[in-house]
This record gives sequence, structure tokens and C-alpha cells, in this order.
Amino acid sequence: MSVNRAAEIRRMFDGLVPRYDLLNRLMSLGKDVRWRRWTAAALAPRGALTLDVGTGTGDLALALRRQGARLVIGLDFAPQMLAEARRKAEARGLDGIAWALGDALHLPFPDDTFDCVVSAFVLRNLVDLPAGLAEMARVLRPGGRLACLDMTHPPEGPFGHLYRFYLRRLVPLLAGLVGGDMSAYHYLADSLQDFPNAQTLAALLESLGLTDVQVRLLGGGVVALHLARKPSPRGHGCDYLARRERGREPSGDDMRPRCRF
Ligand SMILES: C[S@@+](CC[C@H](N)C(=O)[O-])C[C@H]1O[C@@H](n2cnc3c(N)ncnc32)[C@H](O)[C@@H]1O
Repeated sequence: MSVNRAAEIRRMFDGLVPRYDLLNRLMSLGKDVRWRRWTAAALAPRGALTLDVGTGTGDLALALRRQGARLVIGLDFAPQMLAEARRKAEARGLDGIAWALGDALHLPFPDDTFDCVVSAFVLRNLVDLPAGLAEMARVLRPGGRLACLDMTHPPEGPFGHLYRFYLRRLVPLLAGLVGGDMSAYHYLADSLQDFPNAQTLAALLESLGLTDVQVRLLGGGVVALHLARKPSPRGHGCDYLARRERGREPSGDDMRPRCRF
């Protein structure tokens, strides 16, 4: 891993804070808010201890808490991003969220800790993607759920061409117009270049031992939500766990792992 590269990325995000939320709204035509809300809803986080990796200005952490997560920890390695997240939560009077300065590649938590682990628009920025995903899987408790929302490669055809043009040429211009850092928004298109497509990312999650991997394409196929589950110790499916948690003795039929989000 390149320590310098990670430091550059951290500095870049810290510098983006003043215009970050505004540019997200403009670039996605306001859809990014809905995508994070759907991500939170897909996890059904009511009562869950939840980790938001690369929380940035905290929008997903806030959405998870609003949807009933018991405690959300928003982790990021960029202190200015975290300061903005904290300010937002306080301004909205939201408690039950803790902010942690830390590295996604070395999560400062024991194995099997969280009911849910999420990330939004973070994976492309990791200097070692498999290591980052392995860390997320490590801190997830058996039976716990993972959700990763990120940009993905646009479909082939006219829409794909148009979208690539939009990302390469118009987004940096837009960033310049609102007083943002144009070079950082050139980086946005570059960060997608070597990023695996949605299918390969799903295979990577499976290779880490996660199960029930699902992919949902959003925004006409330019954003992907990956959902997965960490298997429970004796190979019992989540139906088994859910019934046991409700106090009912599981039947043989419950033992088949057939959980779906
Ligand atoms: C594009 S922003 C996404 C922020 C937020 N999740 C959202 O939905 O808007 C990517 C975030 O990931 C953070 N990040 C990137 N690499 C990281 C790492 N190795 N450890 C912790 N945070 C990281 C950046 O500091 C930045 O805040």
C-alpha cells in the first residue's frame, strides 16, 4: 500500500469539506440523498450497532440513526470531514452517533463487533480494496449485514458515453463554478478507472466468505449497492437466527441459509 497516496487522498477530502455536500447534490441531481436512504433501509438497522466506514460528512450515519440504529459509529481518516459530520449531527439534535478518526484498512475494533457495517462512495478511494473489504467483514458479527454503495462502470451504449463525458468534462467544470477544487473532481473519474465492475466486486465479497451477496444498480446503472451477510458460525442461515431471537425453537426447515434482503 502507498502511504503517500493515502495521505494525499486524506488531504484532498479534508480540502473538499466546504463544498462537498453541495457538489454531491448537484452532481447526482439530488439523488445521492435517496441512495443513502435506500442503503440504510436495505439494512433494516433498527436496534443495530452499526459502523459507517469512510463516513465523510456523515450523511449515511445520520440516515442510519434516523432509521432506528441503536448506535452508529462514523469512522473516517479525514479530521475535517469528521468535524463537519459532528457539526451536522449536533445541529440536527441527533444523539446515538459517535465519530471515530481511523483507517478503513486497520479498523480499530475487535472481530465480530457490529450488527451492520456500511460504506458509501468509499471503496474507490481505498489504496487496497481487498484489505478494506476484509476489514469490514472482520468486524461484522456472524449473521451481520454489510452494505457498500458506490459508483460503478456505466452501461455500454449512448447513455454510457454521455455519462463518461459528464464525469470527465462537466463535473470538474461544475466543481470549479461553485468554487470547489477542479482537480479533485478530475480524480473522481480516475478513481473509477481501475475499480472492479459490479459483478467482480460481488465475486470479491464472496471470496471473503460473505454470503447472500446481492447487487442493486441505481441511477440508470452508474451506482451499485452491494449487500452481503457474514455467515453464522455453524452455517445456520439467518432465518434460524431470526426465529431463535424471537424465542421460537427452529425447525429443520429453518436451518437452510436462504436469507434475503
Ligand atoms: C467520497 S467520500 C464519501 C463520504 C460519505 N460516505 C458519503 O456518502 O458522502 C469518501 C470518504 O472516505 C474517506 N476515506 C477514504 N479512504 C479512507 C481510509 N483508508 N480510511 C478512512 N476513511 C477513508 C475519505 O476521507 C472521505 O471522507
